[in-house]
Amino acid sequence: MRRNIVAGNWKMNKTFQEADDLINEISEGLDDISIKNVEIILCPPFPFLEMTTDYAQESNFSVGAQNVSSYEAGAYTGEISAQMLQSIDVEYCIIGHSERRKYFKETDEILTLKAEMLLKCGIIPIFCCGEELPEREAGNHFNVVKTQLETALFKLDPLDFGKIVIAYEPVWAIGTGVTASSDQAQEMHAYIRSLIIEKYGKETAKNTSILYGGSCNAKNAKELFANPDVDGGLIGGASLIAEDFLKIIQSF
Ligand code: PGA
Repeated sequence: MRRNIVAGNWKMNKTFQEADDLINEISEGLDDISIKNVEIILCPPFPFLEMTTDYAQESNFSVGAQNVSSYEAGAYTGEISAQMLQSIDVEYCIIGHSERRKYFKETDEILTLKAEMLLKCGIIPIFCCGEELPEREAGNHFNVVKTQLETALFKLDPLDFGKIVIAYEPVWAIGTGVTASSDQAQEMHAYIRSLIIEKYGKETAKNTSILYGGSCNAKNAKELFANPDVDGGLIGGASLIAEDFLKIIQSF
């Protein structure tokens, strides 16, 4: 179901105590602001998920993981399954982040498996897609995103696809301080929605949340979120500072 979302992707940051402090600050902050029509999701590292789901019971946010295994269970040392996440009340999971594609060689084929594992356990995948700078400079950005969607997500049946959240994250904007312009974001989001119309029909496209990610911050969130096809943001750096994250939440 389409809704406004602000999700904080903490990446590999914070110790247990620092994570506890940050969640506390965000929870207290959320009590003091009026939240209009937006779902808030915190995606901390694995060791802090259970603490975050505990906090979430008393607060106004949901919890997401940053990754999941493409395997179901068994002899896969170091992996975390969708079922484990479900057992501690995790509701969302980021998959296909460009950092995982780049450093951990995740392919679109693996991402289809991850999406299926999550959906089987009732966890909503937040599927990241986006082009690298040379691909945009060559005018190839639409094709890159189209291929990522077609190879990974469009393998899902319509019922499953209807549950997915998409995050468009141009790789050149992630952690660089260079944000996509409001027009660039809207253009790509509208394009993604048009691809969903072609594959799954108008109704599904209308109901899919598409988030923007890449140097989204307290200053530029309002302008980005004002676009008709931008349904919120996946926030990296700015989600580690409670004050900034709370401002972004109030940008709708
Ligand atoms: P950033 O990261 O906001 O620090 O650019 C966004 C992301 O990688 O999800």
